[in-house]
This record gives sequence, structure tokens and C-alpha cells, in this order.
Amino acid sequence: MKLAIAGKGGVGKTSITGTLARMMGRRGRRVLAVDNDLNPNLSLTLGIPAARISSLPTFPAEIVRRNEEGVYELAMSLAEICDSAAVSAPDGVSLLVAAEPREAATGCLGAMHMAVRGVIGAAPSGDEDVCIVDLEASTEHLLVATAEHADAMYAVVEPYGTSLETGRRVAVLARDLGLPHVALIANKVRDESDLAIVAAYAERHGIALAGAVPHDDCFHAAERALRAPLDHDPDAPAIRAIDDLAARLIADGNSARLVG
Ligand SMILES: Nc1ncnc2c1ncn2[C@@H]1O[C@H](COP(=O)(O)OP(=O)(O)OP(=O)(O)O)[C@@H](O)[C@H]1O
Ligand SMILES: [Mg+2]
Repeated sequence: MKLAIAGKGGVGKTSITGTLARMMGRRGRRVLAVDNDLNPNLSLTLGIPAARISSLPTFPAEIVRRNEEGVYELAMSLAEICDSAAVSAPDGVSLLVAAEPREAATGCLGAMHMAVRGVIGAAPSGDEDVCIVDLEASTEHLLVATAEHADAMYAVVEPYGTSLETGRRVAVLARDLGLPHVALIANKVRDESDLAIVAAYAERHGIALAGAVPHDDCFHAAERALRAPLDHDPDAPAIRAIDDLAARLIADGNSARLVG
């Protein structure tokens, strides 16, 4: 299963990706989590100690090359990339951080996107394997087809207008890219009426709703403690909701649906 998690800035992509990855690891999956954000924060939500997060390895410099047709491809195997850059997180999850700029004015994002595209394509697709990618808030990744080889794209949305509109744009572009499954995940849901807003929007635009995660102070509390939400408060309602989503994705594949 290869999942890409997208959505407007700050909606909770990284919080959900890190927790979902760990929950899938606990359910026996071999999980490769990929941070495709130039401002990478996935490590903390995965439970990598805060003291390590400013010195994590990133992709090797020569990871992509242009082939004879002018198409960018990986210049090394996934095993070589993991040997050089993967970091072990709890619950058997491996983390690859694509990039973290440490000098200003040194280039553009193209190579990072092409490398992540190659990694998703090279990741194993057996039933026991999960590759989950935390994408940037910008929809640029859809223009350059970063997640083209994923099986599914989930757009995390909050129950308000511009977040939902971003989710719709993501869904339209992800379908255009040919992804077989595209769905919304409602996050920061405070009550039934919040959920009804997202469900109605999803239905109006013909987009499935795969899951709903309540608004939960456990995330801010975990951040203040510099810990993974899952380690800080494993019984919090939001953590249980993400665990429920992990269980349904594993049971039903990417066709798991709340509505739609
Ligand atoms: N269900 C939730 N309830 C309350 N707060 C949440 C919830 N999910 C995430 N948050 C909080 O929202 C903020 C943004 O979360 P996160 O960093 O996961 O979002 P993001 O979409 O990855 O952001 P970015 O676009 O910057 O990558 C964080 O402070 C996080 O603790
Ligand atoms: Mg993020």
C-alpha cells in the first residue's frame, strides 16, 4: 500500500501521517515513511527523539539522474538510499527525510520531488508493505507528479472553507494524475456539525471521506513535551481515531470509506 497525505498548510498532515505510520507498524506492516516537506517535521510525530531531529540524514546528493529520454529516475537502488539515509523510528517504521536546506540560495525543489517520486515507485507493494508520504502544503507536488506511483492520495481537511477548497483541488489534480483512490480525511473535528460540513462538502464534490479525527489537545500537549502524540497520550480520542483509520485501511485497502 502506498499512501500520500496532502492538504492545506497546518491541517494536520504530519500529525496524522506519523501516527498512522506507527499504527500500521503495530499491525505488523513494514512501514517506510517519507518526509517530502522542505520543512521536515515528520520525525517528531513518529517518535524520533527531539535531540536528533536537527541532524537527521537526508537524501544523497546524486540520488536522481536524467535518462536518455530526459526523464528523471533514481540513480541508486532503494536499498542503497535506505542504507545511506533511513532512520529507525518506533514500531518498526523507517523514516526517509528527503531534504532539509541548511544553506540559503542553493537551488530548487525539483530534485527532491523527482527523488521522492522514484522512491514511491521503487517501494515494495506487497500486502505487508506500506509506504506513506507526508507531502508539502503547496500543490506543486501534483504539478510535478511526485506521488504519481502512490495507490492513494488522502487530502486532510479541516471543517472550514479554504481548507475544504484545497482538499477539492488536491482531489481533482490527484485524479488527473491517475491515482486510483482519492479521499478526504476530516481533522480537528469538534462536533457532529463539523463532521456534517465535511461530509456534505465531500458528497457535493463526489469525493470519498475516508476518516475523521477529532480536535484533540493531545497534539499540542505532545508538541510542548517534544514527544510523539502516540507516546504522549496513547488513549487520546484523536489517537484512537487514527488507529481506527489504520485498521480500516489495512482491512479494506484504500477503498475504506466513511461516506462517498
Ligand atoms: N486533531 C487535531 N486536534 C488539534 N490539533 C491538531 C490536530 N491535528 C493536528 N493538530 C495541530 O495542528 C498543528 C498543525 O499540525 P501539523 O504540523 O500536523 O499540520 P501539517 O498539515 O503537517 O502542517 P504543514 O502544512 O506546516 O506541514 C500542530 O500544532 C498540531 O499539533
Ligand atoms: Mg507537515
